[in-house]
Amino acid sequence: MAFMIITIDGPAGAGKGTLASHLAKIYNLRHLDTGLLYRAVAFRMLQASIKAVERQEAFKVASSLKREDLDNPSLRDESIGNLASEISVYPEVRESLLKFQQDFAKEGLSDTRGAVLDGRDIGLVVLPDAPCKIFVTASAEVRAKRRLKELHEKGIDSIYETILEDIKMRDARDRNREVSPLRPADDAFILDTSELGINEVIEKACLFVDLKYPQAKKKA
Ligand code: C5P
Repeated sequence: MAFMIITIDGPAGAGKGTLASHLAKIYNLRHLDTGLLYRAVAFRMLQASIKAVERQEAFKVASSLKREDLDNPSLRDESIGNLASEISVYPEVRESLLKFQQDFAKEGLSDTRGAVLDGRDIGLVVLPDAPCKIFVTASAEVRAKRRLKELHEKGIDSIYETILEDIKMRDARDRNREVSPLRPADDAFILDTSELGINEVIEKACLFVDLKYPQAKKKA
């Protein structure tokens, strides 16, 4: 079976993570949610009372990041996401997280188990030679509604307008930053999930993956 690498990029809340974990199960791949790296840096900065503007300190934290730092449920908190987005504009922070991500992708070469990585710049910067790139997107309004539902299910009270504002702010920051701005690679399959249910999203993504890796084995 071919060694598979799938990259999934897209804005916050478009459904990258859900799609990536399904594809990992279907094709038996290792999965790295690269947003967790930026979130783990943000989390350690908060713990050490380092502010987002302290660029050199952010770089130091990023350079000393360990795999264990990713196993922390608090990384998913909204406040961590915002700080993660602020420090992700620093080129030296991005550079020091680059190798971590590339090493993860290569790791399976020895056991032929490929990987799926999801984030913002995986197809363009981290793994530009990956044969199978997917860019997942959805309107800001749809993403805000999904996020609101998720939070309500967790029993967290939230306001739609605040979430929408937050999503728009993060989009603008991710799209307009100088280094690795969020945009699809030329050879990426653009998957707009605004009007699709999760099963349709998975179905469409699998059609593309099977096209790129005709020998891929799917789990029943
Ligand atoms: O995807 P998630 O919301 O967990 O990512 C948090 C933040 O980390 C994003 O808003 C983005 O600014 C940054 N990020 C990035 N590049 C990645 C993954 C995440 O800049 N590959």
